[in-house]
Amino acid sequence: MPFFDKLAAACLPLVPRPVVRKLSQRYIAGENRADATPVGGRLEKAGYRVTYDLLGEAVEQAADVEDAIVEYSALIEALEKEALEVNISLKPTQMGLLLAEELCFSSVSGLVKKANSSDGFVRFEMEDSPTVTGTLNVFANLRKKHGNGVGCVLQAMLFRSEQDAKDLIATPGPLNVRLVKGIYVEPAEIAFQKHQEINQAYLRILKILLEGGAFVAAATHDENLVIGIQEIVRHILGADERCEIQMLLGVQEGLRQKIRHDGFPVRVYVPYGSQWYPYVIRRLRKNPKLARYAFLGMFQRQEKL
Ligand code: FDA
Repeated sequence: MPFFDKLAAACLPLVPRPVVRKLSQRYIAGENRADATPVGGRLEKAGYRVTYDLLGEAVEQAADVEDAIVEYSALIEALEKEALEVNISLKPTQMGLLLAEELCFSSVSGLVKKANSSDGFVRFEMEDSPTVTGTLNVFANLRKKHGNGVGCVLQAMLFRSEQDAKDLIATPGPLNVRLVKGIYVEPAEIAFQKHQEINQAYLRILKILLEGGAFVAAATHDENLVIGIQEIVRHILGADERCEIQMLLGVQEGLRQKIRHDGFPVRVYVPYGSQWYPYVIRRLRKNPKLARYAFLGMFQRQEKL
């Protein structure tokens, strides 16, 4: 990454929120459910599958978990009413994982039951490494109770994920895994650091999961990785019925269109909510060019952005 882009990414917290808000428009549907469902509706009309995410994480009070449950419940009802597919993604720490695993389980379980009653699905996401064991514990219980109405996420960059994939496959019952590279900065003792090593681990885990009979949501915007994913899918009997590509709203839209035109299913992740700031900062850090615009935006009159 060029020096100036690195500097811009590091200085992002100094950029005024209105400037970041302006740049965030491509990554988040809006602050409310009423902003998110029309975006999802348009994507569905264009031939994409959609998952919705209420922004928020690291909740420290049970009341905040309750607020998230109330909003997700209303979202499920809105999607059903608008005849849109019910598919939601939620973060373990938003559901109380940092407070107690039991609280997290009961919070997510209630939402899975509600989503499943509308033929829907819940993706239980994965956060930074200290939360991985707790997340997989809660997921094991959710899976036992709800079968394939709920899925988890594995991060290819973590050394442990290959074994986690094998353990998940060895446990009887349907399995649905979103495979990602991993967005959190993790130490070299527990995680691959190099792009190539992460991609190799990603494809190894993909193969384990598909050969083991799982459904895999292969989440990535990396064109080379997409080629590798499609190659593996082609060589495993029936895997084309058990794999979709997932991409974030506003990222690599050209590639997204190409994959869909080639006939491979694509699901778009549509985030919304008032807690957009940390999410957008993470996205901008991944996109040095936009980070540079954000940084330069501090020195421009805002209407120019
Ligand atoms: P990579 O980072 O190599 O990017 C490939 C290409 O896409 C590059 O050219 C890059 O510039 C471009 N690109 C990537 N992100 C961009 C952005 N924001 N803006 C513009 N260009 C961008 N992680 C996690 O730890 N837990 C989770 O639960 C999830 N969930 C999740 C769901 C979905 C649907 C997606 C797509 C991703 C996640 N992630 C995640 C994030 C994931 O771990 C990873 O950090 C990102 O997908 C970026 O990695 P890529 O595979 O896209 O490759």
